[in-house]
Amino acid sequence: MRIGVIGAAGKIGQMRVRTIVNDPNATLAAVMDMSIEKAKAVANGAPAFNNLEQFLSVEMDAVVISTPANVREPLCMAAFDAGLHVLSEKPLAHNLDACRRILAAADTANLHLGGGFNMRYYPAFKYVKDCIESGEIGTLDHIRVYGGHEGLPKFVHDWEYKSEVSGGGALWDVGIHMTDMACHLLGDITSVYGVATENVWKVAGSEDNAMAIFKSTAGPSAIYQATWTDWNGYKSVIEAYGSHGMVRGAYAPMENLLVTMREPGGATTTTKKRYPGIKIKEKLRSWKTTALASFQDELSEFIALISGQKNLRISDGKAAVRAVEIAWAIPESYRTGRAIEMTNQSTKDT
Ligand SMILES: NC(=O)c1ccc[n+]([C@@H]2O[C@H](COP(=O)([O-])OP(=O)(O)OC[C@H]3O[C@@H](n4cnc5c(N)ncnc54)[C@H](O)[C@@H]3O)[C@@H](O)[C@H]2O)c1
Repeated sequence: MRIGVIGAAGKIGQMRVRTIVNDPNATLAAVMDMSIEKAKAVANGAPAFNNLEQFLSVEMDAVVISTPANVREPLCMAAFDAGLHVLSEKPLAHNLDACRRILAAADTANLHLGGGFNMRYYPAFKYVKDCIESGEIGTLDHIRVYGGHEGLPKFVHDWEYKSEVSGGGALWDVGIHMTDMACHLLGDITSVYGVATENVWKVAGSEDNAMAIFKSTAGPSAIYQATWTDWNGYKSVIEAYGSHGMVRGAYAPMENLLVTMREPGGATTTTKKRYPGIKIKEKLRSWKTTALASFQDELSEFIALISGQKNLRISDGKAAVRAVEIAWAIPESYRTGRAIEMTNQSTKDT
């Protein structure tokens, strides 16, 4: 699979380039960024460009787009026009209408769109999904999902907390992975009731705290929280509670806890997973070792998706749009004081 990278010189783009170079089933076709010097510096011998038309004139099958969200729509559209499949970073775009247009264009062109939710591949979160699906905790009743960090000091670039570029606040940043995780674990979300506030960092349009209850088609619900005021640092946590146990997945550090019982209230069996290999790699190098491994898994599933494989973990374009619909619905619920019904939300105006 010949794959190009747009936004290749960025923090994440450089990691995306590395995954393509590392993957035996992929070839780095070309890279593009805003300046030719930056693009050349990360090209690994592939052709480098700062011009979209020239970049797209290279023979390739797919692109990974790792720019800020606000420039994603024209890049996706140009890629689809050129007949290329797209793996986009999250969030798909900086507003819901743009996300819907991107998905519609992918569908019209009959091309694959991947949603960039690499946390689906974090071992602790895979374990939670696998425990639910294997019936380990009995019948699923509800989940709790949490994503947070300490907010503005965490960001490398100012644009990351400015809604006109990034889409919004905690819901669009660390929280969107957990929104996707709720959909990934529960199936489709039917209704969203929540609160979103800007009391701490006071960046207009960028909520620093959001809480919500999601109801799902399948029945179980989710309690959701995204925050930019976790003064203890970056953390994502998923807990699933069933009739015969509970399972918890957390990062960082990567950990699992599974508690099961034969009967509700009976004697419990506890299993813990601590992932020492991941912790050592992070200590010796950085969090990027874990992110890179997940990007690598995501790329290999993106290639499998294009090759026609089914039942993959990768988030598709519909999931990418759904996560943004929910990020929109939580502040909308707070503004209107009512639950937002999500069924057929994609056909409604925002
Ligand atoms: N999946 C994850 O875990 C994760 C983590 C962090 C960031 N992200 C997402 O990755 C994306 C990139 O984030 P980043 O931190 O790497 O940003 P960054 O600013 O470091 O990199 C973005 C790159 O895109 C380039 N760029 C901007 N506009 C462009 C255009 N029109 N054409 C070509 N290149 C262009 C910039 O020059 C820059 O090199 C964002 O959407 C962000 O939300 C995802």
